[in-house]
Amino acid sequence: MNQQVPGKSIELGVCYYPEQWDESIWADDYKRMVEMGFTYVRIGEFAWSVFEPVQGTFSFDLFDRAISLAEESGLKVIMSTPTATPPAWLTHNHPEVLNVSKDGTTHHHGLRGHYNYNSSTYREFTKIIVEKLTKHYANHSAICGWQIGNEFNCESNVYYSDADHDAFREWAKEKYGTLDQLNEAWGTVFWNQTYSDWEQVFLPRVTPADSDNPHHALDEKRFVSDSTIRYAKLQADIIREHAPNHWVTTNGKFGHLNHHQLTNELLDFYAYDSYPNFGFVFPEGGDDPLFDRKWSWNLSTVRDISSQFAIFEQQSGPGGWVNRLEQPTPKPGQIKLWTYQSIAHGADMVLYFRWRTAIKGTEMYWHGLNNYDNKPNRRVKEAAKIGEELKRVGETLFGTDYLAEAAILHDYDNEWDGELDTWHGPFTGKSIRSWFKAFQYQHIPVDCFTIDDDTTLDQLITYKVLVYPHAAIMTPKRAKLLEQYSEQGGTLILGSRSGYKNEYGHAYMKSFPGLLSDLAGVEVSDFTRINQYDDNPLLEWGEHTLKAETFNEVLTILREKTTVLATYQNSYYANEPALVKTSFGKGTCYYFGGVFNDQLASLLLMDTGLQTRSELTLPKTIELAIRASKDKEYFFLLNYSGEEQTITLNEPMNELLSEVTLQSTGTIEPYGVMILTKV
Ligand code: GAL
Repeated sequence: MNQQVPGKSIELGVCYYPEQWDESIWADDYKRMVEMGFTYVRIGEFAWSVFEPVQGTFSFDLFDRAISLAEESGLKVIMSTPTATPPAWLTHNHPEVLNVSKDGTTHHHGLRGHYNYNSSTYREFTKIIVEKLTKHYANHSAICGWQIGNEFNCESNVYYSDADHDAFREWAKEKYGTLDQLNEAWGTVFWNQTYSDWEQVFLPRVTPADSDNPHHALDEKRFVSDSTIRYAKLQADIIREHAPNHWVTTNGKFGHLNHHQLTNELLDFYAYDSYPNFGFVFPEGGDDPLFDRKWSWNLSTVRDISSQFAIFEQQSGPGGWVNRLEQPTPKPGQIKLWTYQSIAHGADMVLYFRWRTAIKGTEMYWHGLNNYDNKPNRRVKEAAKIGEELKRVGETLFGTDYLAEAAILHDYDNEWDGELDTWHGPFTGKSIRSWFKAFQYQHIPVDCFTIDDDTTLDQLITYKVLVYPHAAIMTPKRAKLLEQYSEQGGTLILGSRSGYKNEYGHAYMKSFPGLLSDLAGVEVSDFTRINQYDDNPLLEWGEHTLKAETFNEVLTILREKTTVLATYQNSYYANEPALVKTSFGKGTCYYFGGVFNDQLASLLLMDTGLQTRSELTLPKTIELAIRASKDKEYFFLLNYSGEEQTITLNEPMNELLSEVTLQSTGTIEPYGVMILTKV
């Protein structure tokens, strides 16, 4: 869906916690925010005990004063519901609201996100506080909209309280109607798991070897997603009833949640929290990790939910809890780079996390713009400069669309099934990383696109190339759609372990790649995982020799229109086909019987004929992203290196931020950004 972010210009803001600071410094804080060009301040998301210090006694004085002062200072306020952190009186008096881990351990008061969505008690207390808050603030002129809770499923994305087990049983009854159907869907005939009474049905519990029934485990994720959305709806409905003039959203993107459904059904627009510095703590991609550049893929998955979106927490300092997640300080230029990375990918509002570093608590090292000492620092100056720039260019860029001719397909069934199933889940992450790098290094902007049974051909055909690396679960409808896509001229790229499972995760009694065999033009005649004792199977593709890592499928060609591009070089399947290309209608389907690596993805991308834009020649460290209005394109160039980079222009272009016209070359400073338009 395409939801509009409120406003007319890309504006900045910041997360603020008035309850954590002495009231005497609020006015100065707000004044400096406005001086930095900020428009929004987001507040309230962890303050339940301030609003309701004891059960049934409500107090809005502190926030009334904080909000009025924000308004007097010239700021707009984003209000949050405080339900991510239930108060001690609530969890103490009603321990049934607490979340429980799979082994039965209760998550007690002391961190956050320790509640469960299905407890009727928690739902009741949620209703009361959200109603009180929205009624109180419905007509406050400073407040423009609401954030529901905070980062659903962040601290935990599994729930095993009694209320969750009970709700799951009802969910399963609703979904399957009869135990016979449930037994069939969960394949319980295997290992005598057959249920003969609904009372025997629970969420997955601890088992010997802690290995769940895979079909049951897949439904668990679907259930958690539905529970999360039902809980968010409880809040969204109350806000819409009492504060109809305010918009509603929530923030973050975490597991076991269908964000498309959440956004389409409940939210006015989608908001994400962007922390590119995690790329340095958890570098992925072997010898050539993308570090903070990897966040561009995360942002592409956000754009998949809504073309334009907001960033409610943009990293503005070194991060880390007192006991983990140690992150470096953003180097000079990186806050600007990351802010424009978000904007380049579709952000139309950006709020920094947070105004000032907390002086106490678990996140006292999760630094904000200001340090404890509150003295001017380089991070504040960098953000102020961005504020100044966006006052000039924010309106021009607002609402423009990201342009991509290719997409990597995603679907929730395979994401969730692949969490447990090591025969396809980890392959997807690995392949997507390689494909994303190939697109990045060849400077070809790429989307993420989530496919489901409602996806239409019109949506897919806007892309020249689609990559769907290892879609194990494949419904007949989706398989048909992919065939139509190729028939109509699209180029589809598939990898091993595709097409062989139904919606419950059972295998079809067909040769691999199951429902995609016809489209791929092949059947798999033999296959193996590659482990450390195998001597690195290799592939030969023309003059290139490539590694055939992780999984090898031996392909048998079914049709004349299929050509073999690469064969295995060694192992007992030497000389057998590994990579093929099939003409299908007006289009093409590539099938690779393995897991993609950087070299193969890069060569394949070149083979598709898709190319970068002719206007620019860019070094590898620069990302190209393009946003466009009806009549103008904006070329964002993002330099992820600490070195100055030279770019070549094949025609003169204007640079928006510096207001300079570049003739044939330009230099981008370390971690620098340019936004170019044609003259
Ligand atoms: C987000 C969260 C914030 C803060 C931040 C830094 O996950 O919404 O409240 O915790 O990360 O850890």
